[in-house]
Amino acid sequence: MAPLIICKKSLTSLAEEKYVNKKFIRDEDERPKVAYNEFSDDIPVISLAGIGECGGERAETCRKIVAACEEWGIFQVVDHGVDTELVKDMTRSAREFFDLPAEEKLRFDMSGGKKGGFIVSSHLQGEVVKDWREIVTYFSYPIKARDYSRWPDKPEDWRAVTEAYSEQLMELGCKLLEILSEGMGLEKDALSKACVEMDQKVVVNFYPKCPQPNLTLGLKRHTDPGLITLLLQDQVGGLQATRDGGKTWITVQPVEGAFVVNLGDCGHYLSNGRFKNADHQAVVNSNYSRLSIATFQNPAPDAILYPLKIEEGEKSVVNEPITFAEMYKKKMTNDLELSKLKKMAK
Ligand code: SIN
Ligand code: FE2
Repeated sequence: MAPLIICKKSLTSLAEEKYVNKKFIRDEDERPKVAYNEFSDDIPVISLAGIGECGGERAETCRKIVAACEEWGIFQVVDHGVDTELVKDMTRSAREFFDLPAEEKLRFDMSGGKKGGFIVSSHLQGEVVKDWREIVTYFSYPIKARDYSRWPDKPEDWRAVTEAYSEQLMELGCKLLEILSEGMGLEKDALSKACVEMDQKVVVNFYPKCPQPNLTLGLKRHTDPGLITLLLQDQVGGLQATRDGGKTWITVQPVEGAFVVNLGDCGHYLSNGRFKNADHQAVVNSNYSRLSIATFQNPAPDAILYPLKIEEGEKSVVNEPITFAEMYKKKMTNDLELSKLKKMAK
């Protein structure tokens, strides 16, 4: 077999392509149905200003969050307490990283299975049709999981900014988990206890302009595997969620300074299906590049996933207790098998 030669230039040339290479072309049924800027304001935007209070205002905020999780599994939060300047620094620093010359970014190349660093998704192993995006990713919690040799060292303030950002997002994530636990009628530490230890992984997505955005996706349809995801997106638009039991796509209206909160599979299982795990995807466009930063709040790998509360007469949505690591592996294998089967059936 001929050796696999990866041309380093091709790794970062997505933005210069005139046509979409066939490896990015999605089947008809997967292609975008709604444009990146056809915004919908259906997804609730919830202010967290009152959650520090005891009583009425906190209860009302909790009610709104629980209702959003039951109906959508996705909502936006404002007045969340994360420092506005830090959010700006994080966005600037991420943009500066993606603007670096290819050789600089490739010093952190993840192809070949390294944990953390930079990759253009066309080089991700296993995906049958490729997403139109570049990513940089790092593990931030538990602190012992931080492998600084895989964290970019440019721009200069990358490490200081990303560490501060991770810390503030961990706090926000924990606040939201308390609300969700209470919403399930449990002690406020129920969800964090079920996680054993809160893990956090950050994926910074850069979606270059795309010459034929109707043929491809920035990130294919999926649910997030973990508990909750806190997504910061710029004002371009491209995140889409579903309505009507998955039949209709809507583009989430970007709200300056807000975080989009996505419930993942673990949130769905631990709530015995009461909270939805939101199906979502990202579309691209030919006018603007787009940046989004996804912070995944996940259980520890050995945390056991089983509903924390099963109402009388209900069945468990999980057949048997399973660890997060096992669940994650199963999900990835199933996704891969499905896309291979789809390709074979063509
Ligand atoms: C994600 O699902 O992780 C990112 C979605 C987006 O970029 O809007
Ligand atoms: Fe996602």
